[in-house]
Amino acid sequence: MQAIEADSLVVRLGKRNAVNGLSLRLGQGVHGLLGPNGAGKTTLIRTLATVQSPTSGTLSLLGSPANGKLRPVRRRLGYLPQHFGYYKRFKVREFVEYLAWLKEMPSARIPGAVKTALERVGLTDRAEDRMKSLSGGMVRRVGIAQAIVNSPDVLLLDEPTVGLDPAQRLRFRELVAELGRSSCVLISTHLVEDVAAACTDVVLVSEGSLVFRGTPADLATAGTTEHVGDSPIERGYSALISANAGGAW
Ligand SMILES: Nc1ncnc2c1ncn2[C@@H]1O[C@H](COP(=O)(O)OP(=O)(O)O)[C@@H](O)[C@H]1O
Ligand SMILES: [Mg+2]
Repeated sequence: MQAIEADSLVVRLGKRNAVNGLSLRLGQGVHGLLGPNGAGKTTLIRTLATVQSPTSGTLSLLGSPANGKLRPVRRRLGYLPQHFGYYKRFKVREFVEYLAWLKEMPSARIPGAVKTALERVGLTDRAEDRMKSLSGGMVRRVGIAQAIVNSPDVLLLDEPTVGLDPAQRLRFRELVAELGRSSCVLISTHLVEDVAAACTDVVLVSEGSLVFRGTPADLATAGTTEHVGDSPIERGYSALISANAGGAW
């Protein structure tokens, strides 16, 4: 059994299939979900997080079908949405505690788990500050803290590095490498360099379909110097996207 098993997933939004018949199996490790804007990354992650129901196809998470009782599975998930809301008056610590409570963590374990999660994202000294006083990159790190607070077996991070400075990006890569040793981590990004540095495995989507699955080294061999990009991986990415989506830019 793999942590995530999706078969022929279709997610229809409005008149289009944002996810268009996608099958994917993901186990332990750090998987990078790459693709241009509009490719369906957010919709796929929302579906894997059980926030969005698939129109058709099947999904199983940690061995349980994701259309039955969701609470036991949700307790073992961590999810960072691309955009998330919060009460601006919440303190950082209160916000992460609240999310831990929503995930039904035993209350005795919450204070320690929140402290550890904030340490891991370097926000210990901001724990008692209000959310509204934080910069964009700090809010992103609070988002990562709430996603990991329950030590999830499946961690889904949608654009986690947006707003992080280069030093924070490095720290983030170390953190996900550590988490990927014991969990299944899926990170969406449109930055090829994040994947090259942080991921053991790449999942490339375009127009709702899977167009490539392999290691960053495999991706690097897919392009030639004719393709757009500053590195072999970026050129491999451009080659696969232009071959599969005429209108992408
Ligand atoms: N709520 C919605 N209603 C209709 N179409 C949507 C909605 N959300 C996203 N889409 C469309 O679904 C496609 C995939 O979007 P999304 O999953 O956000 O892609 P990505 O995260 O890769 O940029 C896009 O064509 C987008 O315009
Ligand atoms: Mg997105």
